Amino acid sequence: MRPNWFTKLLTAACVAGAFVAAPAAAKNVKFAYALSTSSHYGAGAAAFVETLEAELPGKFKVEQFPNSALGGEREVLEGLQLGTIDLAVVSTGATVNFVPATGVFDIPFLFRDLSHARKVLDGEVGQNLLAEFSKRGLVGLAWGEQGFRQFTNNVRPVVTPEDAKGLKVRTMENPVHIAAFRELGILATPMAWPEVATALQQGTIDGQENPMSVIVSANLPQLQKYLSLTSHVYGPAVVLASPSTWGGLSKEEQAAFQKAADAAAVAMRAYVDNVEQSGIEAVKKAGMEVNEVDHAAFSKALDPIYPQYYKQFGQELVESIRNTQ
Ligand code: PAF
Repeated sequence: MRPNWFTKLLTAACVAGAFVAAPAAAKNVKFAYALSTSSHYGAGAAAFVETLEAELPGKFKVEQFPNSALGGEREVLEGLQLGTIDLAVVSTGATVNFVPATGVFDIPFLFRDLSHARKVLDGEVGQNLLAEFSKRGLVGLAWGEQGFRQFTNNVRPVVTPEDAKGLKVRTMENPVHIAAFRELGILATPMAWPEVATALQQGTIDGQENPMSVIVSANLPQLQKYLSLTSHVYGPAVVLASPSTWGGLSKEEQAAFQKAADAAAVAMRAYVDNVEQSGIEAVKKAGMEVNEVDHAAFSKALDPIYPQYYKQFGQELVESIRNTQ
């Protein structure tokens, strides 16, 4: 039977209707990080997703890969460079091997407190370093945060540098940290984060160091007996994008991604503010022995290493960071 004018009209209307109703498919983006969804990184990723969705409803589907699901932080940075990962939040433990200048933030006892660190990161020094990422095949979007790194181990409470001597401690693959630990006589054992839990379980290392945000969210009280509040170094985190992902976005989309990354940084800092207070009680309840340390003795023991850092990063820069009020 030949279609009459009515069936032709109906078919045309259906086709047009289907065309209007079918929403453009959301673009998938992969967001990687080393810790659980209930960590500060998870809080940052959740804020990113929420802000992006509010800015550009239905346009992007952010798929989260927590718990190092796409590899350790070094592999994640390589994935960003290659464009196999779109977004990530990582520590400067890893970035120093890609953007060496970020290592200046890893100098021990450089920052007085969280607000000092945030002032520097949000100021000229921090923003210039964020811009450095683009020279190394990465896009730096925002400085998030982990908090001050603390020392945990299974052998003894660490109060003075003498107590730390001879302990086999996992460090990040970060030459600035490794140099400081060696100066203290610690047997620094650089290791990617995904291997740390097994190494602690098997006793191939005595301890590790990380901020309260990680100690709590990664359940370290299950693996470590002593927590010594060394606060030896501040740990920033950075929200990064792959240059190929970033380059494929329109100006409007880039602005939305930037807004989402800024929201992620705010969420991470809020998490850290909370856990640096509440975390101590939480780990005590979980069975850890917590002790204060002699910070002046640690800082003094590290004096001989500062000339090396000055040479590496410039004394003027280090002092301008230290003297930021
Ligand atoms: O210790 C590290 O390697 C980092 O602090 C971690 C836990 C991977 C978070 O970035």
